[in-house]
Amino acid sequence: MNLVLLGPPGAGKGTLAARLVEAFGFVHLSTGDILREEVKKGSELGKLAKGYMERGELVPDEVILGMVRERVDGETDGFLFDGFPRTIAQAEGLEEILPVHLVIYLELPEEEVVRRLSARRVCKNCGANYNLITQPPKAPGVCDRCGGELYQRPDDREDVIRNRFRVYLEQSAPLIDYYEGKGILRRVDASLSPDEVFHRVAEVLRG
Ligand code: AP5
Repeated sequence: MNLVLLGPPGAGKGTLAARLVEAFGFVHLSTGDILREEVKKGSELGKLAKGYMERGELVPDEVILGMVRERVDGETDGFLFDGFPRTIAQAEGLEEILPVHLVIYLELPEEEVVRRLSARRVCKNCGANYNLITQPPKAPGVCDRCGGELYQRPDDREDVIRNRFRVYLEQSAPLIDYYEGKGILRRVDASLSPDEVFHRVAEVLRG
């Protein structure tokens, strides 16, 4: 099965993806994570993506589709797409690569998105995600898992978060109707606790 996690920034796609990979063994493909890695390496792709990401805008569709095609590498099953597709053009491009069987739409209102993302901290070393409100690290600024330094993503400033949400409404929200029309979309209330969100999605996956 190939699964897509759809939802606004901060809905909890990355947090849920980590749990689903552990429980169901999906291959996790997060376009945001891949792009951040490329920015860190200073590659041509990273240089191209950096400005879009810092402004909270979408990286061009053909760049994203090329990146996904390369990583899927001819395999056709077992993928969990997190933060992709984000436009109808990306969804249509994905269909030419492999079939999508299920789309989980994580619903979260704008104010909760801003509250969550302003409080997110990420480990520079292992990428673990924290939240100063709901999931604080044991020691301030230090990763529980590896002792790495925690930082705030440059696109987690309030003005950029609000722009990301606006971009989401304009360019990604049309995917809700698109996948609903195909009969493969399931809605999940993302304002619930991470455990509850995971259990609800796991129930859908177990049929
Ligand atoms: P990307 O990294 O995909 O960012 P995003 O979609 O904005 O999503 P986030 O990573 O911010 O949030 P999330 O939903 O994964 O939530 P998380 O689990 O971290 O993309 C970044 C940028 O890259 C884009 O703006 C764009 O420029 C570019 N890009 C990426 N993909 C692209 C594409 N396909 N096309 C074009 N451009 C692309 O959780 C957030 C916080 O909330 C954390 O602190 C977490 O601890 C907490 N939390 C999680 N779940 C819960 C819960 N249930 N209750 C309480 N707190 C929770």
